[in-house]
Amino acid sequence: MTAIYDNPQKFKRIQVRPMNSTIGAEIRGVDLSRPLDEATWQEVRQAFADYLVVYFPNQPITHEQHLAFSERFGSLMAMPQLHSVEGFEQIHVIKRDADDTGRVIGENWHADSTYFDSPPAAVIMRAVTVPEFGGDTGFLSMVAAYETLSPKLRSVLDTLNVVHSATRIYGSAYHAQKKKFSANNAKIDLDIEAGDRETIHPLVCTHPVSGRRFLYVNQVYVQRIEGMTEAESRPLLGFLYEHCARFEHTCRVRWEKDQVLIWDNRAAMHKAIPDYIGRARYMTRTTIAGVRPA
Ligand code: SIN
Repeated sequence: MTAIYDNPQKFKRIQVRPMNSTIGAEIRGVDLSRPLDEATWQEVRQAFADYLVVYFPNQPITHEQHLAFSERFGSLMAMPQLHSVEGFEQIHVIKRDADDTGRVIGENWHADSTYFDSPPAAVIMRAVTVPEFGGDTGFLSMVAAYETLSPKLRSVLDTLNVVHSATRIYGSAYHAQKKKFSANNAKIDLDIEAGDRETIHPLVCTHPVSGRRFLYVNQVYVQRIEGMTEAESRPLLGFLYEHCARFEHTCRVRWEKDQVLIWDNRAAMHKAIPDYIGRARYMTRTTIAGVRPA
């Protein structure tokens, strides 16, 4: 099959191969082990802004090179729940051993840490060990999810705020649940009060780079719509979660060893697909700081 590439007039230094018409593209023609020249860097930034998720096959980079590439996107931030690579505090680990029976990190649709006042802008993940099958990551465009709603509903959503917290991840709701993360994979002894702390963000935000409007809700961190009870919020939030996850808003990335991927953590959600039970999977990732969603 002939590969379809995005406009070669727009992308002269890199080849950008869209996964579909909504979200996700493969980028070739770049060596991430070396500093990118300015023109190539601008094209990578553009492709990332256009597609929200871009991946680069076969990039066997070191931790230092992973950090150097990440720092082009902004300053790096800590992630309270994730372990770091020894000696590299800002490189976090997503790890699952073959015999692990704990909860899979990120198995529900979410954007990372939306309970922060200023959640991450992006994540840059590298595949170190991939299972022989399964272990893909799903992504979905919250821009597409917003744009496919009726104008009437959009105008209502535009006026609402949403309450976020990490209570189900390391707060009191997490501790009330049966299935826990393995201590090996996530920090499980975090401050419960910090997990329960609530922050409020608009339900619809504007992307600071593309200027496009997107839905900003997820079933992992959102507790309720501001000014409503959880029971009152549930029907509308439930509808939105279902609408966001429609196949036509998504792409699914198959990982290969040494593939490097960047996801936009504002206008895209992601989901680790837990279908590799009995196999090991090991990824390293950096997290780019963001601004307060507005
Ligand atoms: C995450 O949610 O950060 C993990 C994504 C993945 O493991 O694919």
